[in-house]
Amino acid sequence: MGEFLLTTSRLGLREMTMDDLDFMATMLGDQEVTRFYPKAYSREEAVEWIERQRGRYLRDGHGLWLVVEREAGAPVGQAGLVVQQLDDGPELEIGYMIHRHFWRRGLASEAALAVRDHAFANQPVERVVSLVRPENVPSQRTALRIGMKPERTTFHHGLPHLVFSVSREHATTSREG
Ligand SMILES: CC(C)(COP(=O)(O)OP(=O)(O)OC[C@H]1O[C@@H](n2cnc3c(N)ncnc32)[C@H](O)[C@@H]1OP(=O)(O)O)[C@@H](O)C(=O)NCCC(=O)NCCS
Repeated sequence: MGEFLLTTSRLGLREMTMDDLDFMATMLGDQEVTRFYPKAYSREEAVEWIERQRGRYLRDGHGLWLVVEREAGAPVGQAGLVVQQLDDGPELEIGYMIHRHFWRRGLASEAALAVRDHAFANQPVERVVSLVRPENVPSQRTALRIGMKPERTTFHHGLPHLVFSVSREHATTSREG
């Protein structure tokens, strides 16, 4: 199963491996989950997704991690830190995705809050961001729940995205739950 890098009251976050392919392929292949993405992902693309995260773990020390519900011992999604190149330079992004069966239970907020606190405890950054499509209300509400505010619109992969951000000094309110 692997060691958890981060834990919250309900969740554990750990590096994903190819053993997680069935779960990742199901989540990434669900058109509801990817409705704000350019497309759903095939199983082969899910393999590449996991390989990309494993490359990030090696290169950056972080990437998107698997989110596991600890009591059930089963994966529910992914969340973590990704270096993104924006128009005015690199930013550290908090990314999150939860399998549709587990939506609206506060899991994304709980995982993202732990990732935010981990970033400020371990990375020499003054702020973290999340890039969110203007149509993606659930993701915007998740960003708001971890203290982020929308600051501007940017083009990312050719699509408009709101840049949500929170600075180290404003990241003090914990709203886990
Ligand atoms: C965005 C996502 C991760 C939220 O996951 P979740 O576990 O359901 O989120 P939470 O239960 O923690 O809820 C977070 C906030 O979003 C709100 N929310 C969640 N789903 C919602 C929906 N369908 N409509 C409106 N608000 C919604 C919650 O009410 C909560 O806000 P509140 O505290 O102000 O009420 C999930 O919908 C998802 O995986 N979407 C597809 C992937 C994606 O778009 N990822 C983000 C890319 S930028």
